[in-house]
Amino acid sequence: MLSTIVAGVWRMASWNWTPQERLRWIEQCLDLGVSSFDHADIYGGYTVEALFGEALALAPTLRARMQLVTKCGIQLRADARPSTRVKHYDTSAQHIVRSVDNSLSALRTDHIDLLLLHRPDALMNADDVAEAFDRLRTAGKVGAFGVSNHTPSQYELLQSRTHLVTNQVECHPLHLAPLFDGTFDQAQRLRARPMIWSPLAGGALLTSDAENARRIRDALERIGAQHGASAATVAFAWLLRLPSRPHPITGSRRIEAIQEAVAATRITLDVQEWTEILTAATGRDVP
Ligand SMILES: NC(=O)c1ccc[n+]([C@@H]2O[C@H](COP(=O)([O-])OP(=O)(O)OC[C@H]3O[C@@H](n4cnc5c(N)ncnc54)[C@H](OP(=O)(O)O)[C@@H]3O)[C@@H](O)[C@H]2O)c1
Repeated sequence: MLSTIVAGVWRMASWNWTPQERLRWIEQCLDLGVSSFDHADIYGGYTVEALFGEALALAPTLRARMQLVTKCGIQLRADARPSTRVKHYDTSAQHIVRSVDNSLSALRTDHIDLLLLHRPDALMNADDVAEAFDRLRTAGKVGAFGVSNHTPSQYELLQSRTHLVTNQVECHPLHLAPLFDGTFDQAQRLRARPMIWSPLAGGALLTSDAENARRIRDALERIGAQHGASAATVAFAWLLRLPSRPHPITGSRRIEAIQEAVAATRITLDVQEWTEILTAATGRDVP
């Protein structure tokens, strides 16, 4: 349902583009086969969905060629939310349904392909969430549901009440937790392909001067040279090698960077190459 590589638009408001520039970027992503776009209600302080929708309105037929993912559940302090005194989570059925209606109108579409709960909420009542998801599914407003940043047991709780298709989590060689805390085991067991945010650690993988980042970069470049690929491409190939079959989400505004991500779909790292990068990340051989 989602393209292997997903385009993330978290940073889109900071790109300061005209609607035509945003449309051009969307078209170029689609031409590369990157047809899924990752949003959240809160991106850009509640502005990015509308920026994207404004561009989409210039070429509405593109909607049929793309999948829109968005999230809800975080309440930010923002000009657009004067009643929010403190940043908090809200996973009540009322908030979920209202947030989807806002997203539909900002994105200028009649349906969202995939809705995620953005963060685990200690006050979440799984029955309420399941009821909201049922209403949204029945109304044709949302096609599928998932979560983000959930532990396996948090995922299991909601999965016991409703069908989830993904857990969107952070993973890259500077953040290995989901490889070892059961997150990707659960994804593989349930055949629920994870989505991976910040696959380049927000750029730090390629720019940080920290010792581990340098070590990882050396390994990425060395392996990249064997494949005629850039370090960024190898970083994506490292994620794509995982058997839970994740969808990495690029965060770049540059089409060349999105091409580098797509190039990773044509490379398969062998087990020793994959392990060299893991070893560079941890600083020691596997036990
Ligand atoms: N669920 C969640 O809680 C959550 C949290 C964070 C993000 N996300 C999602 O994940 C998406 C991706 O996150 P991300 O933006 O952190 O991803 P990322 O791809 O790890 O980082 C993108 C950043 O790295 C820079 N970059 C890319 N290639 C580079 C290179 N070769 N050298 C130096 N810098 C480079 C980009 O700058 P340029 O634009 O200049 O290339 C951009 O600022 C977001 O858009 C959002 O959809 C979800």
